[in-house]
Amino acid sequence: MTSNKKKPRLVVSTGAGISAESGIKTFRDADGLWENYPVMDVASADGFRRNPALIHQFYNERRRQLGTVRPNRAHEILHELEEHFDVCVITQNVDDLHERAGSTEVVHLHGELTKVRALDNPDLTYRLESYDTATTPETRIDGHRVRPHIVFFQEAVPMFEPATQLAAEADIFVIVGTSLVVYPAAALLNYVRRGVPVYYIDPNPSKVPDGVIVIREKATEGMARLAEILLKKI
Ligand code: APR
Repeated sequence: MTSNKKKPRLVVSTGAGISAESGIKTFRDADGLWENYPVMDVASADGFRRNPALIHQFYNERRRQLGTVRPNRAHEILHELEEHFDVCVITQNVDDLHERAGSTEVVHLHGELTKVRALDNPDLTYRLESYDTATTPETRIDGHRVRPHIVFFQEAVPMFEPATQLAAEADIFVIVGTSLVVYPAAALLNYVRRGVPVYYIDPNPSKVPDGVIVIREKATEGMARLAEILLKKI
C-alpha cells in the first residue's frame, strides 16, 4: 500500500568530508594545500589566468582519480532516505559520488569534475566522455575552447541563489563534512526557517553554529546514526 502523505523535505548540505572515506582528500586538512598544490594556484580565477595549462592538468588528474573511487555508505544512506523523505543534496563537492550512489536531486555549488564549459559562453557545458578524458587550453569542443566546469575562488557562485531557496524549503536540514568556512556555502544555514532541526555530522567541526545538533562522527557512521534518529520520528 502506498501512502499519500507528503514526505518531509530533507535538505542536506555536503562538503569534502562526505567523500573522505571514499579516498578523496579534503582541502583544509593539509596546510592549505590541495593534493600538494597551493589552493590558490589550482582553484582561483587568478591562478587560471596565470597558468591555464596547470589548471587543466590538475582537474584532469582529479577526474582520473574520481574514476578510481566509489561512493561510500554515507552517500548510499542519503539515497536510501529518499524512500521516506523528499531529499535534496546541495554539495560543495565537484565529484559525482552522490549521483553514482543514486541521489536524484543534487545541486553542485562549485561545479562538476565530469564537465567542462565553453570559455566564450558559460551556459554551454559539456559532459566529458570518460573519467580519463583529458583537456588542455587548446582543446576545442563544437569549435569552443573550454575550461573546467569549476567555480574558482574570486568567481561568482551562480547556483547559490537556487540553493538558498532549497534551504528555505527544508523541514529538516543536515550538514555533512564541511568546515563551514567557505562562503557563500557556509551562509546557507541562514536561509533555513526558524524551528527547523539542523544536524551537523563532522568528526572535527571547526565551528558549530548556535542551535545545531552535532553528531561528532565520520560521515559513514554519522549518517547511519542520523538515519536512525530521523526514521524513528516519522
Ligand atoms: N566524515 C565527515 N567529515 C569529515 C571526514 C569524514 N570522514 N573527514 C574530514 N571531515 C571534515 C573535516 O573535519 C572538515 O570539517 O570535513 C571537513 C572538510 O572541510 P574542508 O576541507 O574545508 O572542505 P569543504 O568545507 O567542503 O570546503 C569547502 O573549499 O577549497 C574549497 O571549493 C572548495 O568546495 C570546497 C570548499
